[in-house]
Parts: sequence; C-alpha cells; structure tokens
Amino acid sequence: MTGAGSGIGLAVARRLVSDGWTVLLADRDVAAAEAANAHIGGSATESRAVALDVSRRADWDRAVQDVRDREARLDLLVNNAGITRDRTVEKLTDADWHQVIDVHLTGTWLGCQAFLPLLRESKGALVNLSSMGRHGSFGQANYSAAKAGVVGLTRTIALEQARHGVRANAVAPGAVDTPMLAAVPEKVVNGWLEEIPLRRLAQPAEVAAVVAFLGSAESSYITGQVIAADGGATPP
Ligand SMILES: NC(=O)c1ccc[n+]([C@@H]2O[C@H](COP(=O)([O-])OP(=O)(O)OC[C@H]3O[C@@H](n4cnc5c(N)ncnc54)[C@H](O)[C@@H]3O)[C@@H](O)[C@H]2O)c1
Repeated sequence: MTGAGSGIGLAVARRLVSDGWTVLLADRDVAAAEAANAHIGGSATESRAVALDVSRRADWDRAVQDVRDREARLDLLVNNAGITRDRTVEKLTDADWHQVIDVHLTGTWLGCQAFLPLLRESKGALVNLSSMGRHGSFGQANYSAAKAGVVGLTRTIALEQARHGVRANAVAPGAVDTPMLAAVPEKVVNGWLEEIPLRRLAQPAEVAAVVAFLGSAESSYITGQVIAADGGATPP
C-alpha cells in the first residue's frame, strides 16, 4: 500500500496488519514507512517498508519485480499516497497542477497498471483513495480534478477486470484528522465542519475500516463503487 508512512495510510497498514495481512508499506519517505512498520508491529507478519514514488513508473516496476522475486502473492493494492498544493484557479501554477495530478491520478494509474497482472493471478482487489473533493472543492482544482479522475479510473478498471475476478473500488473520505489536514487553515476546516452532519472530523482508523472491508472477502460482491466515509456530507 502507498503513502503508508503517515495519516490514513499508516492507519490502513495498522488495520491490515492487525487483521493478519503481510503489508508492503510503500512511501516516498521510506524512513516514515520504516517507522510506521516498527510502530504497528509489522515485522511480526513479515511486513516491511519500501521506497516508492508513485509518480515514477520505474519505482512501480521495481516493486512488482520485488514481489515476483519473493514468489509472493498479491491480494490487495491500496493506492493512498497524496499531496496537496492548494490555491484558487487563478493562482494555481503549472507546477501545482502537475505535482498533484502526477501523485494522485498518474500515481494511481501507474500502480493499478503495474500490479494488475499479480492481482489477476490472485483474483485480488484494489482500493483507491478518492475524496469528498471529487465533487469540487474551493481552492483545490488540481486535487478535485485528480480525485474525480480516480473515480473514473477505478470504475473503468472494475468494468474491465470483473471477468478476471479482480474487484476495484474507491473510498471517498471527507475531512480526516491527519497531517494533510493540518496544512488547511482552521477557518476553512471550521467551515467544512458546518457542512458535515456528524459535526466532527474522521479519525484515520474510521477510513481504514472501510479500506479493510473493501479489500476483504466480506465485500466479495462489491466492485466499481465509491464508498463515502464523510460523516454524511455528500448525498448518495
Ligand atoms: N486527510 C483528509 O482529510 C483526506 C480527505 C480525503 C481524502 N484523503 C486522501 O487520503 C490519502 C492519504 O491522505 P492523508 O491525509 O493520510 O495524507 P498524509 O499527508 O498524512 O500522508 C500522505 C503520505 O503519502 C506520502 N506520499 C506523498 N507523495 C508521495 C509519492 N509521490 N509517492 C509515495 N508516497 C507519497 C507521504 O510521504 C505521506 O506519508 C490521500 O490520497 C488523500 O488525498 C485525505
């Protein structure tokens, strides 16, 4: 799983390890992924950290080769890594645009494409992180476009791979209490809270529970869906 060194990724890794999975904790910040693995007791399940920048195809190719070399089985891919570069459309730079699209959308596409052959062998599942922002989000045109793109990508993979026994779903969190949210001004977060029926932020473990469900056999008849974990903020 990607972006495992922090926030939601760390919570997903923790949840999967506690459910008995062996997890490859991938992150651009490998020191954070190593610390996460030590923190969640991953070594007890042979889980380990790897350096992987999701926007680089060569990194994905290396990760696939690593799994093949170990003759390991891959049952679940979680594309979670993310960044934000928030500005209104008039102020967004080309760099802001490309960096966010490269990590969220291109990174998710590269990961899915690289690991689909292994997932087909195991008849596994993939879970991509979208966001409530997929419907548009003030100051986040790059992020919003990427997260809407992740939905289209996920649905297409679900349609193409169903006959091969691979399921593909997305989770769309609302505002989650992670380091990513810490970059958002308090005034803005308070505005979001007014729009959230449950009137609070999500804890990362609450999103991890949805990812774990979609990655498990408990969700064996669910594919091509976006599951919102946003405190009721968006209608179905
Ligand atoms: N926090 C929220 O409110 C929220 C809401 C909706 C969706 N999400 C999504 O959930 C996911 C996780 O967000 P978070 O809040 O845990 O963020 P976070 O900033 O806490 O963690 C993101 C992790 O991704 C890693 N990362 C960044 N760029 C990378 C790259 N190119 N390659 C590999 N790893 C990279 C970082 O090193 C970090 O460990 C993101 O996709 C985010 O868009 C978050």
